Amino acid sequence: MTAKTRIAVVGAGLMGHGIAEEFAAAGHEVKVHDPSAEALASLRERVAKVLADLGRDPEAAERVTPEETLRAAVVDADVVFEAAPEKVELKQAIFAELERLAPPAALLASNTSVIPIGRIARDVKTRDRVLGTHWWMPPYLIPLVEVVQAEGTADESVATMMALLASIGKAPVHVRKDVPGFIGNRLQHALWREAMALVQEGVCDAPTVDMVVKSSFGRRLAVIGPLESADLVGTDLALDCHENLLFDLNRSTEPLPYLRKLVSEGRLGFKTGEGFRKWTPAEQEELRARVTSHLAKLAAELDRPESGGKRP
Ligand SMILES: NC(=O)c1ccc[n+]([C@@H]2O[C@H](COP(=O)([O-])OP(=O)(O)OC[C@H]3O[C@@H](n4cnc5c(N)ncnc54)[C@H](O)[C@@H]3O)[C@@H](O)[C@H]2O)c1
Repeated sequence: MTAKTRIAVVGAGLMGHGIAEEFAAAGHEVKVHDPSAEALASLRERVAKVLADLGRDPEAAERVTPEETLRAAVVDADVVFEAAPEKVELKQAIFAELERLAPPAALLASNTSVIPIGRIARDVKTRDRVLGTHWWMPPYLIPLVEVVQAEGTADESVATMMALLASIGKAPVHVRKDVPGFIGNRLQHALWREAMALVQEGVCDAPTVDMVVKSSFGRRLAVIGPLESADLVGTDLALDCHENLLFDLNRSTEPLPYLRKLVSEGRLGFKTGEGFRKWTPAEQEELRARVTSHLAKLAAELDRPESGGKRP
């Protein structure tokens, strides 16, 4: 695929408008479908805001075209990214439609966070062109995209997608098996489960868990991954730690009772003003701004070619 690759995005929400922005900023024409008139009406404005915030050419927003029908968005697409809500039946229905409406050679990718691609493509016959592309939030500040090869996905489809994503400055990785949660969310939720278990068992409170991560290994994680860390300290030390620790880590295969209780009590986090702790609107705004500013600094330092491309 070339600089002229025609992109379609299905779903104009948080992820969809960010994916559209990334391709438009790189010079591609992008058509976006969403059944919500409101999401379509605000699409260009939201893309333009991201471009302005990142100091990119605001005219790139003109390359993003809202489309009222799925057919119009995908009919001449080379690559389709589905970013609709995380509901398996909805995604299955969308993929069945995509197979009918998109050109036979178009790649069909889902941005699902955790659902295996094989389940989403259950009703699709041309499986060779179906794959996962798991972008991270916000797509314009996080470089990683996990490219998931499902049963039947052609090697060529994976290679084409990896090359396309790399060409617009993303950091694609190849996930060779279609496992739930792929790589990043498996790691992230293994950590969340243990974090919640520590609070549930009364070892510490929620702010302490977060303080421990942010003030210790969390600081290193942007520049050294867990297996690089294991090599740095020595695999023999890693083995000693595992001999004396793994037996005591939480191994629940169900969501923890503590989490279920929070949800049943309506303590949903920012949405209701309380989750593991209370959040005023000002505190929510401050945390969001802190994360965005931190990610923008890291992106400027590590990802931008003009900074020397120091991405580890
Ligand atoms: N938000 C995140 O942090 C994040 C990160 C990575 C992956 N994801 C995944 O990306 C996908 C989208 O998440 P989001 O956060 O952008 O959600 P969102 O709720 O912000 O956006 C979803 C959009 O899809 C639209 N939609 C509903 N039905 C549709 C249909 N039939 N066809 C097309 N569009 C439809 C909605 O109107 C909405 O605008 C989900 O699968 C989610 O799990 C989300």
